[in-house]
Amino acid sequence: MTTDSAIQYDSVMKLALERGFYFPSCEVYGDAQAGFWEYGPSGVGLKNKFLQLWRRELVRRDGMLEIDGSQIMSKSVFEASGHLASFADPIVKCTKCGLTYRADKMISETADVEIPESAELEEFDDAIIKNHIKCQKCNGEFGSTKKFNMMFRVGIGPEGEEAYLRPETCQSIFVDFPRLFKTMRGKLPLGIAQVGKSFRNEISPRQSLLRLREFYQAEIEVFCNPQHLDKMNNFDEIQNTILHIQTGSDPDSMTCKEAVESGVVPNYFVAYYMGLLVEFYEKTGIDVEKSRFRKLGEKEKAFYAKVAFDFEVKTSVGWLELVACNYRSSYDLSSHAKKSKEKFEVMDGEEKVLPHVFEISMGIDRSLYTILEHSMIYDKEHERTVLSLKPYLSPIHVGVLSLVKKDGLREETDQIYQKIRRKYDAFLDHSGAIGRRYRRLDEAGAPLAITIDHQTLEDQTVTIRKRDSMEQERIKISEIDSILSEATSFP
Ligand code: GLY
Repeated sequence: MTTDSAIQYDSVMKLALERGFYFPSCEVYGDAQAGFWEYGPSGVGLKNKFLQLWRRELVRRDGMLEIDGSQIMSKSVFEASGHLASFADPIVKCTKCGLTYRADKMISETADVEIPESAELEEFDDAIIKNHIKCQKCNGEFGSTKKFNMMFRVGIGPEGEEAYLRPETCQSIFVDFPRLFKTMRGKLPLGIAQVGKSFRNEISPRQSLLRLREFYQAEIEVFCNPQHLDKMNNFDEIQNTILHIQTGSDPDSMTCKEAVESGVVPNYFVAYYMGLLVEFYEKTGIDVEKSRFRKLGEKEKAFYAKVAFDFEVKTSVGWLELVACNYRSSYDLSSHAKKSKEKFEVMDGEEKVLPHVFEISMGIDRSLYTILEHSMIYDKEHERTVLSLKPYLSPIHVGVLSLVKKDGLREETDQIYQKIRRKYDAFLDHSGAIGRRYRRLDEAGAPLAITIDHQTLEDQTVTIRKRDSMEQERIKISEIDSILSEATSFP
């Protein structure tokens, strides 16, 4: 097919709204806040399958544990974690109209000057003065830059006891670690995973799924003995996987093995998970040739990270950070041990250790956006938009269509649909011109469509149409299950 490669953010947005992937929350009300979005049926289907793939490729592959913790956590958790003191963005307020901006983003957009969010506050003030930056709304002057804590505070019970919506899912993994290690008979290295919502009171939420106030994370915290970071049993499985790593101005391509041997990545342990991550994203359909691991500088890293690489992917809106890979050392466990006065050390063979943590913190919403953008194609020749999702990620595996509703075709179609719908995500559609129905399925990403016509009644065959090639073939009804199973199963 002849394709038009420049798929832009706006085309993805249009498709997302029209085909039930995502849409703004509370959209019928004028007081709906920015930064909150809902997944429709197609979005939920894609998200669930994305997570199935994540579990297969990362969690189950290495026998990790998975938990599901509370979204509201006590004040002590965030005193210990450092979020109450340090989880803040720099903000500036217009002295004339009162509009507040996130300082680093506003400066980078208006003056093309990059200042890391954790820079000293004076650096933002200096950049504003030096570049004569004024309020974009009223041209007013800015006051001095301040820090704004991004956690949402909640009041528990009638007395409004102080607690917080978690800003990252992993804090329950750290707090629960002693119990999990003991009850699940853990051995280092031990990965503990969690999928769930996190909440950040962003100053400037924007671009739908790309900067949300309520968002999904899939986080993995791998607990390890810091003395054993160069022993990674399964390393040979990924040693030749290519990583694009940026430590200076341009990314270098190298295998996982070369990355460790050249010292670009500090050890086999970290390189192993970087390799797994690239292999995982390749299976999602994201073009990993457009990816890079960007090593963060001292001022860019989160306050808990000793070494940090962001896994970023190029999209029409620039490089998007999909995963934060943070070597958090013993920062979290020692902080919680100190604050709670509980024991967080564990036995590794004969040795008592306070484990270190390597974190793979995945942003699900941004990953889904990127999958959509990288999978979307405009087929010029046939004037159609195709969402060429990997079949195992498609919210709809197969459309089931009657060519016409009359002459018993509707009933025959319903029967076929009933037979397959518990095993496959099937979409039944009787109405409209067949060409238009195919186009809708192409846009929703359904890899296959089955059409029931008059010949079906005579010889128990149907046509099966492939989304990408538009080829059609006649198959027996009795073959549908095996064809669908082969076409839609996970790799
Ligand atoms: N847990 C790391 C993050 O949320 O970015």
